[in-house]
Amino acid sequence: MSIIIKTQEEIEKMRVACRLAAEVLDYITPFVQPGVTTERLDQLCHDYMVDVQGCVPAPLNYAPPGYSPYPKSICTSINHQVCHGIPAPKPLKKGDIVNLDITVIKDGFHGDTSRMFIVGEASIQARRLCQITLECLWLGIAQVRPGARLGDIGHVIQRHAESAGFSVVREFCGHGIGRNFHEEPQVVHYGKPGTGVELREGMIFTIEPMINAGKAAISELSDGWTIVTKDRSLSAQWEHTLLVTAEGVEVLTYSALAPRPPEWMADKPVRFPDHPPITATAA
Ligand code: MF3
Ligand code: CO
Ligand code: CO
Repeated sequence: MSIIIKTQEEIEKMRVACRLAAEVLDYITPFVQPGVTTERLDQLCHDYMVDVQGCVPAPLNYAPPGYSPYPKSICTSINHQVCHGIPAPKPLKKGDIVNLDITVIKDGFHGDTSRMFIVGEASIQARRLCQITLECLWLGIAQVRPGARLGDIGHVIQRHAESAGFSVVREFCGHGIGRNFHEEPQVVHYGKPGTGVELREGMIFTIEPMINAGKAAISELSDGWTIVTKDRSLSAQWEHTLLVTAEGVEVLTYSALAPRPPEWMADKPVRFPDHPPITATAA
């Protein structure tokens, strides 16, 4: 399989799927409080995707080669969990940091986005990790334009994370996305400028840096999915789905409650979906 350049019709469908994925995060935000279980957050998101948005939750029963089917509709990764945490009947507590990763399928196309949530108040260290990781995502996004290379994205992310004293997870990466959940190319979050695949108008992929407060090494839990830091240090992740435009980039998973881009993005060729919010309708 090679990189699929999206047609105008496919881009329109990706705009819809991506906006819906971001709107699930907007919807769930007020529920992320001390005492709520991640299983409850999963249930609420599942019902919103299916009953309100008329979407299919992409994670549910997702089974890439070598994996057992994923048992839930969203991923919830708490504290030292890096990614793919499985929602469970355990309450969140004040001071936890949790990533909620949402992927919907609408009209055959996938939208994929994740955010960090601070439960109650978190430590200065936890807040700084979440903030630096978000900055890593925006620095990566700012590199996206035709002619840039994937190594340009990886490089700015790695440089920012490491100069803050943090480390970049190597085993998981961003990815092309469209009719398939995971397509080429692989978008790694480290690298050298001027190397790797050259970006072209019409490519759609995610950037989703996983940054650890301690060492980069990870391990997989016996549930076959949950990834944790080996040294049990905190880990954070943010994810957007991006379209390469003629001028630069469109952030397809931007929505009302998504964090605003940093000030320095103001002069970058970045666009945000300009169509009005899709009115939620049942399928
Ligand atoms: N949403 C994740 C990503 O960003 C993939 C989750 S796969 C699942 O690529 F099966 F765990 F949901
Ligand atoms: Co993704
Ligand atoms: Co995701």
